[in-house]
Amino acid sequence: MEKKIFQTNAELKDWLREQNSAIIFIPTMGGLHPGHQFLIKKAKERKTHNNQIILVSIFVNPLQFSEGEDFKKYPRNINRDSELAFIAGADAIWAPDYIEVFPGGEDSHFKIQVPQTLNNQLCGAERKGHFDGVATVIIRLIKIIKPEKIILGEKDWQQLIIIRKLFQELSLPIKIESFATQRDQSGFSYSSRNAYLSHSERVNAQALPNVIQEAKANFTKDKIISLQKIESKLKQSNLEIEYIKIVDAFSLQEKQNIKGICLLAAAVRCGSTRLIDHTFLMPRKPIIAIDGPAGAGKSTVTKEFAKRLGFIYLDTGAMYRAVTWLILKNSIDPNNEVEIQNILKDTKLEFKNSKFDEQKIFINNIDVTEKIRSPEVTSIVSEIAKQQFVRKLLTTKQQVIGDSGGLIAEGRDIGTAVFPDADVKIFLTASPKERAKRRSLDLEKRGYQCTSIEDLEKEIKARDKKDSEREIAPLKKAQDAIEIVTDGLNIEDVLTEMIYIFRSKIPEEIWPSPNL
Ligand code: CDP
Repeated sequence: MEKKIFQTNAELKDWLREQNSAIIFIPTMGGLHPGHQFLIKKAKERKTHNNQIILVSIFVNPLQFSEGEDFKKYPRNINRDSELAFIAGADAIWAPDYIEVFPGGEDSHFKIQVPQTLNNQLCGAERKGHFDGVATVIIRLIKIIKPEKIILGEKDWQQLIIIRKLFQELSLPIKIESFATQRDQSGFSYSSRNAYLSHSERVNAQALPNVIQEAKANFTKDKIISLQKIESKLKQSNLEIEYIKIVDAFSLQEKQNIKGICLLAAAVRCGSTRLIDHTFLMPRKPIIAIDGPAGAGKSTVTKEFAKRLGFIYLDTGAMYRAVTWLILKNSIDPNNEVEIQNILKDTKLEFKNSKFDEQKIFINNIDVTEKIRSPEVTSIVSEIAKQQFVRKLLTTKQQVIGDSGGLIAEGRDIGTAVFPDADVKIFLTASPKERAKRRSLDLEKRGYQCTSIEDLEKEIKARDKKDSEREIAPLKKAQDAIEIVTDGLNIEDVLTEMIYIFRSKIPEEIWPSPNL
């Protein structure tokens, strides 16, 4: 494909019409550096079909500079930028003039106002109107080119959070993909503004990533962090501090205790240049909760997801089933809670073999992996699973397994009761008919004689009802879970969706993108 540079919307639109392709969009303000090039390379690597165009825009947006900022001197060199973008894999450059983006002047177009909770923090607190300007221009740009996907760096984390929320609230059907901050060999993050630094300023500025990385290393080791120490080290290197804060990575609200994913972020002035940097602090590895009713396809996709992420896979349903099998085996009345407690008190329940496809469950050293899938166990498991003692016992076991994270657990109450602080919560569901069909195939594969789909549907509905109506930890979508309705989706479709959700909740710096 011939590489193209467009300046007017009309030319760009004509060309796009001819291509009839989906657009992967990388918005920039120019001043291209290896960080931008990395995003372009990733966009190219991640192309899912040949009919996708990588379009890089270069537009220095006046709305995001306040008075006295560096709008006039911001690095502008379209030829050099285009060359760097093409080398990295861009198909076309769009470098519109102001009038192309704001045809009637900015006062004749809608302006976006970013919610105060996100705007009044970090960079937004100092740079009044900056994020409103960013949000406004992004809407103008995407209105013109209508991309399928937009690629952003995590370097400007606050901007990324704001744009994600903006797209979500406007229900824009555009995917956002983000990648970790790119750094040179010394750990200094690439930025167009680095070009302003003199040699001696650059030497001083190195303290910014050094001090942040050192603080992160100390946090990982001792779980403590001192903002005062960071501040004094930055000052020693002649950096003037604008802010240094620890905030929740998503709400951006300040945090006293580090729980979940926190952002340690700083902005400093080195001479007259403003520099920002950050890192993420997380006391444990991520936890992913997958909940949903029977037969929604949880096991298949969860196992595969765990494999791709390199996470521990925890099938909590198998634990309830194993306990049920033991109760049936010992001919205990499912309603006799005292006897159930007695037998479970000293029961040994364990998963063996870390290979996902071959994970086996043992109860009192008996391999029950296949036995627990029998229709007899299935018909009674919900009765057993509602009992307080059983739930407490298994919930505690599950929490111990997930203690240091790096785990993906599937069940009914993972996001609500077992790991309410899970970092990613997904609720997988499908219509009862679809679920009955899947269950029938699954039973057939396991060698069980099949009842009719209608009977399976009835059984599934009855179990869902019991699971949803029980008193303790009922089957319920957690308020912060994202629902995926899997009717008509194949395994790969569901996985793509899950990986996308994972990526929007876990910064790449914490856990790299799994292979799609
Ligand atoms: O395989 P299927 O999706 O039908 O169910 P499962 O995940 O193997 O779970 C079997 C039963 O265990 C459910 O119907 C629930 O009654 C119970 N269960 C639960 O109560 N809490 C969980 N976290 C997981 C399963």
